[in-house]
Amino acid sequence: MQQADLIKRIKELKLKRNAVILSHYYSRPEVQDIADFVGDSLALSQEALRQDAEVIVFCGVHFMGESAAILSPNKTVLLPEIDASCPMADMLDVEELKRLKEKHPDAPVVSYVNSSAAIKAESYICCTSANAVEVVNSLDADEVIFVPDKNLAAYVAARTDKKIIIWEGHCPTHHQILREDVLNMKEKHPQAKFIAHPECRPEVLEIADHVASTRGMMLYAKNSPAQEFIIGTECGLIHGLLKAAPEKKYYCISEFACCPSMKMVNLEKVLTSLENMQHRVAVPKDVRVKAKEALDRMLSVIVK
Ligand code: 13P
Ligand code: SF4
Repeated sequence: MQQADLIKRIKELKLKRNAVILSHYYSRPEVQDIADFVGDSLALSQEALRQDAEVIVFCGVHFMGESAAILSPNKTVLLPEIDASCPMADMLDVEELKRLKEKHPDAPVVSYVNSSAAIKAESYICCTSANAVEVVNSLDADEVIFVPDKNLAAYVAARTDKKIIIWEGHCPTHHQILREDVLNMKEKHPQAKFIAHPECRPEVLEIADHVASTRGMMLYAKNSPAQEFIIGTECGLIHGLLKAAPEKKYYCISEFACCPSMKMVNLEKVLTSLENMQHRVAVPKDVRVKAKEALDRMLSVIVK
């Protein structure tokens, strides 16, 4: 089917199913373009709550669909690609977290939303890259277990007085961005600001002009007087940046800054998802209720 026909059919089915399409900034450009809302993990969770459509088609990875299903149990959440899982989320399982909790019984668990529903259910509170520092600082505890991203944990540790117990997970896409990639790009584009996601290595963040979630990076580039930016995250963000501030220039940090899981959803799969009402995200009730408590606690933390 031609792209225009695919888009037409998706729009028809969206109306028929009373569905809304949510997409992360890392999705393919054509998928972002048909979405009703594109955002970072925090904004997507908030948007899933706000929507009154019956069906949410979530163009992203598994944990994102799960978060929407946990927050909105009365809606049907569909993942166009069921195998799109986040490798970082897969770096920690519940038994490992339980053992960590046993070793540090007084430390509340903060889980980055890039984790399974079962991990969220074992956590006191969740966070995203947009609110991790505020979430940790909101806790009445001297030490905190932070899972699963060691880079985001190190970023938080540098901005809090609390002791952070770090799990050694990482995002392969961000971890592959090296300090020398940044230095090379800075040499090629000396006027450009380097903006980076906190999932990058500490030695990369150290030389960034600005560190923020994907949405924060977007706002910074849009509002900054600078005209050129080196993008230290998954390069799908450049599509959104070009829409938000088309007059500026954006340079992808490296050819490896691409998340294969986030690219699995395409227009054909969105259409099949709406046609067959697949793949429904199901979270067992006991897990869902506990995971929702951790997500609700996160959503009640005000970010300045
Ligand atoms: P944010 O959406 O919080 O910026 O995180 C990026 C990410 O890696 C999502 O998988
Ligand atoms: Fe997971 Fe990294 Fe891909 Fe985000 S970019 S979905 S953290 S692997």
